[in-house]
Amino acid sequence: SSERVLRVLGQEYARDNMSNVTPAVVQRMDADLLSQPSHPLAILLRHIEEYFQQDQFRHFGRCIFSSHRNMKPVVTPQQNFDSLLIPQDHPSRSPSDNYYLNKDFMLRAHTSAHQSELISSGLNAFICSGDVYRRDEIDRSHYPVFHQTEGVRLFSIDEVNKMTGSSVFAQHASRSPEHQESHTITTAQAVGRDLRTTLSGLVEHLFGPVEQRWVDCYFPFTHPSWELEILFEGEWLEVLGCGVMEQEILDAAGADNKVGWAFGLGLERLAMVLFGIPDIRLFWSKDPRFLSQFKHDAPLASIKFKPFSKYPPCNKDISFWIDDDAFSDNSFTDVVRSVAGDLAEHVALIDSFTHPKTGRRSRTFRIVYRSMDRTVTNEEINEIQEQLRKTVAHELHVELR
Ligand code: PHE
Repeated sequence: SSERVLRVLGQEYARDNMSNVTPAVVQRMDADLLSQPSHPLAILLRHIEEYFQQDQFRHFGRCIFSSHRNMKPVVTPQQNFDSLLIPQDHPSRSPSDNYYLNKDFMLRAHTSAHQSELISSGLNAFICSGDVYRRDEIDRSHYPVFHQTEGVRLFSIDEVNKMTGSSVFAQHASRSPEHQESHTITTAQAVGRDLRTTLSGLVEHLFGPVEQRWVDCYFPFTHPSWELEILFEGEWLEVLGCGVMEQEILDAAGADNKVGWAFGLGLERLAMVLFGIPDIRLFWSKDPRFLSQFKHDAPLASIKFKPFSKYPPCNKDISFWIDDDAFSDNSFTDVVRSVAGDLAEHVALIDSFTHPKTGRRSRTFRIVYRSMDRTVTNEEINEIQEQLRKTVAHELHVELR
């Protein structure tokens, strides 16, 4: 029956105790926002792709980077985690953060899931873009579906030699903050420099002159690693993660005689800043007052979203006792998404305590309901809230207070 089988993009997956994908999320998988010519995400992606087709990224007139948009978002945990050296016990694998179809298949949580297979297929430089899925909080910059562009560039021993004039791989070295054990420091520095120049150029191509800074960070699949932040309205905003690819990944993908860099950037984040879009739900809006503001052939700098007036919110609180160890705040968030759809603008945990005698845990959440395109009535929200209370009690095994 439909209960025991999940239908996703025309394929069937047998449910098991890992299955946690919701119909609200599966329904989003058909949207294909990146293929709608005048959608702001599609416009942004076209400008990113255009950057990587410029002369500086051509060799004898031919593009170095190929562009991929059609990789399937259903992947294995092997692709999403193992192929990237993410340890078995790493918190990012948790079902409370990811959408699993069953124990063997999941919705990709990042486009990095495709690094290995694209390298194995023989590519030396590519960008790969698509929808990614994460269970997360509800606020104006988080949505269970968003979009990323991944970029990878590999260099042969000859190419590195030309950049550095010295040898690529180190013998018997140990890892330091500057380099991996198998890379010489000059290799790591040359690859890192090429990466940062490429990405600073991309940000400038999109934003024009803008203040940028590089922050050291950590990813299991790159070392050294950085985040790029840009100064926007007085605040430093993280726009991408990147680094020198772990050699073990390249070795396993049959590119053991190459070194490389990789980056991953979030398209919504960038588009919100670039076009002044105030709420991530707008990317899913069919409202002509939103969509008509983006013209596929307009120069980027001329596109500035003019927010239409906000409709009033309606706040409701819900409190319950948790008796089940399986409860997670993200499972609550998913129920809110399923019952309220895009009317849920924000969910905040406003109280949390453990009863001193019984040891029972209590949670109170405030849900801010608001429509992007009309005024909601208290009656309709009361109905949704009632439905939410029922569903939460039934599906999450909590006792309403
Ligand atoms: N996959 C990382 C993320 O989603 C971004 C990243 C990609 C970082 C490639 C380094 C290299 O956060």
